[in-house]
Amino acid sequence: MANVSVLGCGGWGIALAILMNNNGHNVTLWSALDSEVEMLLKNRINEKSLPGIVVPEEIKVTEDIKEAVTDKEVIVMAVASAYVRSTANKLKGLVNEGQIIIDVAKGIEDGTLYTMTEVIKDELPMVNAVVLSGPSHAEEVGKGLPTTCVVGAKDRETAVKVQNIFMSDCFRVYTNPDVKGIELGGSLKNVIALAAGIADGLGYGDNTKAALITRGIHEIARLGVAMGCNIATFTGLTGIGDLIVTCASMHSRNRRAGILIGKGASLDEAVKEVQMVVEGVYSAKAALALGEKYNVSLPIIEKVNQVLFDNMSAKEAVIELMLRDKIDEITNQEWGE
Ligand SMILES: NC(=O)c1ccc[n+]([C@@H]2O[C@H](COP(=O)([O-])OP(=O)(O)OC[C@H]3O[C@@H](n4cnc5c(N)ncnc54)[C@H](O)[C@@H]3O)[C@@H](O)[C@H]2O)c1
Repeated sequence: MANVSVLGCGGWGIALAILMNNNGHNVTLWSALDSEVEMLLKNRINEKSLPGIVVPEEIKVTEDIKEAVTDKEVIVMAVASAYVRSTANKLKGLVNEGQIIIDVAKGIEDGTLYTMTEVIKDELPMVNAVVLSGPSHAEEVGKGLPTTCVVGAKDRETAVKVQNIFMSDCFRVYTNPDVKGIELGGSLKNVIALAAGIADGLGYGDNTKAALITRGIHEIARLGVAMGCNIATFTGLTGIGDLIVTCASMHSRNRRAGILIGKGASLDEAVKEVQMVVEGVYSAKAALALGEKYNVSLPIIEKVNQVLFDNMSAKEAVIELMLRDKIDEITNQEWGE
């Protein structure tokens, strides 16, 4: 059995800690937030992020990062994406060559346009940074409902090691070497989920939702392929799978923020009401910048940016999407006579 550490005691960190504990591993949970550590030590529940799910006594909870990460086979990075860099920075001098760090945070860093494993490698070049992603709401994993995910690593040996740590009768894990494709799908789906929420808030129906999901994955895949990723990754669990769950579920804070915006709330009002980090808001800007960098057209992501940051009304954004230049659904196909 492995000694493992989870950095971040939000909903996802806790759900994964419980999963690994149930698999027989020795788990330590760490948080930078004193309030979170106190709450867990006192009640064994994070009422804000994962209400009703009890953290078993065998899981150690600490605010001492050195204690948390020393002599651990794997470290799971489960803080919100905006804190991945600062948390990785705290690990300097505490981790050795080849340390496996499993990123589960979903985002693209503003400015550098790095994915989260790239941010980790930027701070800690000696580590082996991998990703675990897929359609997996913490609320359901915490209850042991059947869920599937994918571990992305550069080498098969690492991927299989991580697969073995998480795999259980309610959590099936696949492997995939396309780390960047997995990370792009996981972060950009949050932007499309904002659009899906906006459409729900405007009162649009299932046709609109299906269109956003289908054209949304098309957009993400186009960018991913231009960035050297495997197109098949975007048809898998971390691509279309995660996009479907995020656009359809009320567990998605991005979709919930979108619904509020669609009903007329400002971005600030929506984020305040959701009371959690809405990562799609940050990823929206970064996605647009990636589109410009790789010369890929991202019409839905562009409209989400205009609604969020340029005061475009949600209704006008949809009309502009509907009436933009007429194109083929799938490019470069042969036509008959
Ligand atoms: N919740 C899910 O269902 C789920 C599923 C898959 C992936 N994820 C991803 O996992 C990551 C964490 O999600 P979550 O739902 O647990 O988020 P959350 O908002 O519940 O928790 C985020 C955690 O980040 C940490 N944090 C907050 N401020 C910090 C700071 N200043 N410095 C260091 N750490 C800080 C805290 O431990 C906090 O609990 C996100 O990137 C999310 O996209 C979440």
